[in-house]
Amino acid sequence: MDNYKIPHDFLWGGAVAAHQLEGAYRKGGKGISIADVMTAGANGKDREITEGILPGHYYPNHEAIDFYTRYREDIKLFAEMGFRCFRTSIAWTRIFPNGDESEPNEEGLQFYDALFDELLKYNIEPVITLSHFEMPYHLVEQYGGWRDRRLVGFFAKFAETVMERYKDKVKYWMTFNEINNQSSVQNAWGGWTNSGILYQKGEDVQAVLQQAVHYEMVASALAVKIGHRINPKFQIGCMLAMVPFYPRTCSPADEVAAQTAMEHRLYYYGDLHVFGEYPSYMEAFRREHGIALDITADDLETLKEGCVDYIGISYYMSSTISSTPTEDSTKVAEGIYTARNPYVPKSDWGWQVDPQGLRYSLRLLHQRYRKPIFIVENGFGAYDKLEHGEIHDSYRVDYLKKHIVEMKKAMALDGVPVMGYTPWGCIDLVSAGSGEMEKRYGFIHVDKDNQGAGTLTRTKKDSFWWYQKVIESNGENLGT
Ligand code: BG6
Repeated sequence: MDNYKIPHDFLWGGAVAAHQLEGAYRKGGKGISIADVMTAGANGKDREITEGILPGHYYPNHEAIDFYTRYREDIKLFAEMGFRCFRTSIAWTRIFPNGDESEPNEEGLQFYDALFDELLKYNIEPVITLSHFEMPYHLVEQYGGWRDRRLVGFFAKFAETVMERYKDKVKYWMTFNEINNQSSVQNAWGGWTNSGILYQKGEDVQAVLQQAVHYEMVASALAVKIGHRINPKFQIGCMLAMVPFYPRTCSPADEVAAQTAMEHRLYYYGDLHVFGEYPSYMEAFRREHGIALDITADDLETLKEGCVDYIGISYYMSSTISSTPTEDSTKVAEGIYTARNPYVPKSDWGWQVDPQGLRYSLRLLHQRYRKPIFIVENGFGAYDKLEHGEIHDSYRVDYLKKHIVEMKKAMALDGVPVMGYTPWGCIDLVSAGSGEMEKRYGFIHVDKDNQGAGTLTRTKKDSFWWYQKVIESNGENLGT
């Protein structure tokens, strides 16, 4: 490792998503998004998805951390840490409040003009996700979300509008956040946040899921094509939730089960994004399950023409697959169970903490795709204690440090081209999964609790100063 130096243009920064921090859910002409009808859950308690906004419920994304009005103050803090890039999303509902209008909302466009200008003032490169769990709610009510082919056109229009508008301000784009997350069909949340779909009782979940994925993939490929036409210098990536599945034992049956899980939950999406064609294992799956999809010859051509330039990933944890039920396992499909891994610890939210899994993941993705990889999410959701104006979050530093070490090994020893690293929730924000504020990831503490009370005051945590040194030394100084 001594002979290796991280490239000088490596993109160190932080990541967030519009709906988790902007708030101002009705300001500037914004429409209601699917995140706006999700109540707060708790650790171990799912969020509720309500039919519209109902009185007597608490919706944490409505105010979030009010980044909409405080972004200047927050970006100044990011600049103080030395960020070279900042990943956020454009709330689709600020630009097309309902999703199906013919003209965009100028006030929404102006907000992102001002936001990107503020970032560029500090030489912070914006890294933009087009769709991060926040599609217009109207598209769900009127069209059933991504069940409907017409969404391809609506999304393409949104993509074209913002890529054209910001073509001189934004170079790095991603289409859909964690598009593969929805394949976890046990969890209603996954389908909702990715596709605006709640499965009906008795319907063929796999058939609906596969169709929605197809339309989203075509929309993603269209956005890539459009983007490359608008500015050939754009770097447009996909974004995959990278949760590698280890076989629970070395029994061949566990190995095959883990391989199947990798294909269905990850590679299916990556293969489509990178190779632009359906992998044969998915064609076989559809044949076996009698699933016939609406796929046209034009769709197949678009998929082929809209391949991504890089692979964005989130990495938080690994998972373990068993071919037979075990103690505390969960069935995900016939002969496939997720199981506990006795070799790795868990966070307070039960997420398996596995830094080596990051190196393993980077190698796997590189071996298969030969594309640059951008780690656009990684982080440790934890309870923080604010005492006398200070937060000593050594546990967060420990988590991030160990992951950066493994990333460096993947770059130095395995030759994986990693473009950048943007820890998730660089400022505390609303948890996507639980709606909590107190599942904190940030280098910057925000005074707000799970019930929505607090002054929204920002306070630097110990990790703030640690990350500043990491960036300053280009990843050489990770602390003792
Ligand atoms: C990823 C999402 O799944 O994980 C983020 O892209 C999310 O939106 C992050 O916030 C962490 O998950 P959670 O549930 O702790 O917020």
